Amino acid sequence: MGIAGPGLGGLDASIGFESDRPENIGVFVNVTIGQVKFDQFNTVFLSISDLIGVGLADSLATCANDHRRLPLRVGRVDATGPGPAGVPGPADTFAFALAAFNRAGFSQSEMIQAM
Ligand SMILES: *[C@@H]1O[C@H](CO)[C@@H](O)[C@H](O)[C@H]1NC(C)=O
Repeated sequence: MGIAGPGLGGLDASIGFESDRPENIGVFVNVTIGQVKFDQFNTVFLSISDLIGVGLADSLATCANDHRRLPLRVGRVDATGPGPAGVPGPADTFAFALAAFNRAGFSQSEMIQAM
């Protein structure tokens, strides 16, 4: 899982600034991540990015047949603005999706497992 800092890709909570993008349709960003729900747990020791990481590791663990756990680390620094655009959608090609997942540090197998 990508753990790069703000502006470098990976898990940095930049989605909190991307609520109006087509891939984030609906109110979940503002309601869940947009400093409303997660913010009550946010401390100097645990960022919004770390909280998203906990949720991601948990959801991936329930996808795998062997319930393999991703190593969970904290200490991410939250982004202060939106990240780069280009999240793959259902109408995009496999190659486009794979390139996007590779940029985020996922292999082809990990992409398929997560999808
Ligand atoms: C989320 O909140 C921001 C800031 O108030 C706003 O600009 C944006 O339009 C909202 N997004 C949605 C999908 O409601």
